[in-house]
Amino acid sequence: MTDRAPTMRDLATRKSTGEKLVMLTCYDALFARLLESAGIDLLLVGDSLNEVIAGRRNTLSATLEQMIYHAAAVRRGVERALVVVDLPFLSYQVSIEEAIRNAGRVLAETDCHAVKLEGGAVMAPTVRALVERGIPVVAHLGLTPQSIHALGGYRVQGRSDADAAALLADALALEDAGASAVVLELVARGRATEISRALRIPTIGIGAGAGCDGQVLVLHDVLGLNEGFAPRFLKQYATLGADVRDAIGRFADDVRSGTYPDDAHSFE
Ligand code: KIV
Repeated sequence: MTDRAPTMRDLATRKSTGEKLVMLTCYDALFARLLESAGIDLLLVGDSLNEVIAGRRNTLSATLEQMIYHAAAVRRGVERALVVVDLPFLSYQVSIEEAIRNAGRVLAETDCHAVKLEGGAVMAPTVRALVERGIPVVAHLGLTPQSIHALGGYRVQGRSDADAAALLADALALEDAGASAVVLELVARGRATEISRALRIPTIGIGAGAGCDGQVLVLHDVLGLNEGFAPRFLKQYATLGADVRDAIGRFADDVRSGTYPDDAHSFE
């Protein structure tokens, strides 16, 4: 990218140059600073925060207030990275008017760059209405967690020819409506590659293989903080869960034995 801060419009240029997009979820300013300094292109304030840090069973109960609170924190932590915010369940499905109001609030109150919403061609009119009003949109297809009960579980999407054709039609409809990018979650890799080739806008895969134009993962999973969560697509790059337990255990031992605080950590 150039010296000026990147914009959502630059994503399509990145696709045309073949440079992969790197996205991670982020829920707070401290990690946002770290991720930006590590060179991450896009931070996603995902509604996965409802599971990962709020301890809920799924994303369905995430609220707009919760998303705005975390998105504003993430935005305060970055200068150049693009920040995309998930619109939570029922904040955009009821009517286009509500979608505009809620997505507008997200951008106005957080200063983030785009919203993300789940769903295929049925959401295209909503995407178009948001984009026409100056609100960039990232779409999300495949395994859409806000529809987990309808989908019947976390399983790979687009395996049959009919499902794959429907996914492709959805992706094309969202592109036509003005989406800036499409997240493809848990999609058979050959299908995800076909969709990526058919679109002008980038695809960002999670569990969708290497043919996508970028990749996104949940930060806490990548860092090994979400212990016990080990789906096939996930590659852990650290084991911070074990590091945290070790550090906290040593702190507790020092306090209990009276070796902390020592002279070096006390005031006269
Ligand atoms: O909420 C989220 O973190 C997401 C990613 C898994 C893509 O939507």
